[in-house]
Amino acid sequence: MTLIRNLLLLVAAVAAVPTPEAAPLTSRAVCAGNTAADRSVWCDYSIDTDYYAEVPDTGVTVEYWLEITNITIAPDGFERVVLAINGSVPGPTIEANWGDTLKIHVTNRLTANGTGIHWHGIRQNYTVQNDGVPSITQCPVAPEETLTYTWRATQYGSSWYHSHWALQAWEGVAGSMVIHGPATANYDEELDSIFLSDWSHETVDALYPAAERGGPPLMDTGLINGKNVWNGGGSRYEKTIESGKKYRIRVVNGAIDTFFKFSIDNHPFTVIAMDFVPIVPFETNVLDITMGQRYDIIIEANQDVGDYWMRAIPQLTCSSNADPDNIRAIIRYSSSSTADPVSTAWDQTDSCNDAPLSDLVPHLSQTVIDPTTDDSDMTVSVFASGTVFKWKIGIDSMLVKWAEPSLLQINEGNATFESEEAVYELPNANQWVYFVIETQIPVPHPIHLHGHDFFVLAAAESATYDDSVALNLVNPPRRDVATLPSAGYLVISFFTDNPGAWLMHCHIGWHTSEGLALQFVERESEIPALLDADTMNSNCATWNAWTAISGVEEEDSGV
Ligand SMILES: *[C@@H]1O[C@H](CO)[C@@H](O)[C@H](O)[C@H]1NC(C)=O
Ligand SMILES: *[C@@H]1O[C@H](CO)[C@@H](O)[C@H](O)[C@H]1NC(C)=O
Ligand SMILES: *[C@@H]1O[C@H](CO)[C@@H](O)[C@H](O)[C@H]1NC(C)=O
Ligand SMILES: *[C@@H]1O[C@H](CO)[C@@H](O)[C@H](O)[C@H]1NC(C)=O
Ligand SMILES: *[C@@H]1O[C@H](CO)[C@@H](O)[C@H](O)[C@H]1NC(C)=O
Repeated sequence: MTLIRNLLLLVAAVAAVPTPEAAPLTSRAVCAGNTAADRSVWCDYSIDTDYYAEVPDTGVTVEYWLEITNITIAPDGFERVVLAINGSVPGPTIEANWGDTLKIHVTNRLTANGTGIHWHGIRQNYTVQNDGVPSITQCPVAPEETLTYTWRATQYGSSWYHSHWALQAWEGVAGSMVIHGPATANYDEELDSIFLSDWSHETVDALYPAAERGGPPLMDTGLINGKNVWNGGGSRYEKTIESGKKYRIRVVNGAIDTFFKFSIDNHPFTVIAMDFVPIVPFETNVLDITMGQRYDIIIEANQDVGDYWMRAIPQLTCSSNADPDNIRAIIRYSSSSTADPVSTAWDQTDSCNDAPLSDLVPHLSQTVIDPTTDDSDMTVSVFASGTVFKWKIGIDSMLVKWAEPSLLQINEGNATFESEEAVYELPNANQWVYFVIETQIPVPHPIHLHGHDFFVLAAAESATYDDSVALNLVNPPRRDVATLPSAGYLVISFFTDNPGAWLMHCHIGWHTSEGLALQFVERESEIPALLDADTMNSNCATWNAWTAISGVEEEDSGV
């Protein structure tokens, strides 16, 4: 066992296109026994099933075809170029059942850039090649090429998928993802996933040089499911609910750099899941949600018939937005109403922390073995390289090459990782590993790990970690994005049960591009046997052929 100490110094839902064997999802979304009166049941499985060990064998493959295009739209009434999936921002919602195999064909119809789609939070159990990260798990997909991703939904819950090429996710290449399964509380129906974004009228690519020199730029506004009003234009997302019913809502924060508080006026809610982990339900009026996180909530339509604001409020303590009070959608009790709500927001205080860790209790309890310390250190810092900011977590600011993904190097047997590839080797199977991530900088960072849920053993703001800090080892919060608090520390642990090259990074888009990322190369010797080398090599060959002609050059960390 290793305790690695890190110092961070400074520093519209679309139905699945079914394969012949897959019935339309609407007829499959509910498994036998899973009814409004008991959402804990799922065919022969239940909310108590240990989904890390057992997965329903549905025998179903759900197939999707997604096309990335370059279009001009006006999500908030202001026209700009966006990069869309199948013509919409966010893209189509991907849906499947727990245990299904997903087969998703991604075609790049851009003229001038590559792509690669990451299925955020999906464990990719022994399928690292489908994780969708250019420079780590694949070469980028060249224009007019298609790459097929195949993976099994071994978890269930709510998430999103997004491009992992440069800042492309925040030009619009992202969408919600729903894996149906059991739940820890009952509800009558589900509403559409709620996808929160921040939004600028210039492209994020155009803003990046300034962000690199001067820090995160001011965002103009935000969107809820790709809509908002701005300066008299645009329209709001709205949904009609029925008095007396309980609704499940899946909330996703897909922003580039905005910590939101999410709420619905007059409607407290029950939180039933965080990321892909069902939790013991708790009640709140206002939900803290940082970039990359998801929460599933249940609201009850038990208020006076009327219209109510749904709000996503950027927390100005750590996010900058020119229109923070206006990122809203509408919940109506009557579909004939067209009035703007007159409801008032819940009391709240601007802040940027995850919900209290004591509220985030996984339903499926797991215990982490107590670490013994061997004090391998790694540092995380931000520094200036020339005139631009570079971040680093651990060894070095990440700089990896599109055409030399880690998996390709590993497959060719000559991976001699350079410092700037920021590799931590985890050669041993089935061990707990522990990381203390610290920062002296008064900026919170959403830390996201690929390939695993991690356990949050401790976190504190404006504090320094030392050996006297008590670690929460008995059923701690378990998820795939957690906030490293401002000028504080975050202690995480995971179990080396999934061979692969897994990125861990700050999910502030600017920071990923500025190198605040590292990769865990887990059980390297077992990786080649898991790879489809033909697919990897031919995708790299078409990429290399296109870059030779286009001359496109990497301008950021490569992830
Ligand atoms: C993950 O993959 C391994 C290797 O194929 C398999 O033994 C294990 O059962 C899988 N886990 C789940 C939850 O499907
Ligand atoms: C996306 O567009 C492609 C190409 O037009 C189409 O075949 C596919 O069905 C669309 N997928 C979804 C989920 O809308
Ligand atoms: C998007 O389209 C514009 C206008 O045609 C073009 O200038 C730009 O290169 C395109 N971008 C990408 C990424 O294909
Ligand atoms: C292509 O991606 C790069 C980021 O790597 C970005 O700077 C550039 O603007 C993009 N090109 C176009 C035409 O959108
Ligand atoms: C691995 O080594 C071979 C032979 O020297 C070389 O052709 C290849 O480019 C190397 N692969 C990588 C990914 O560095």
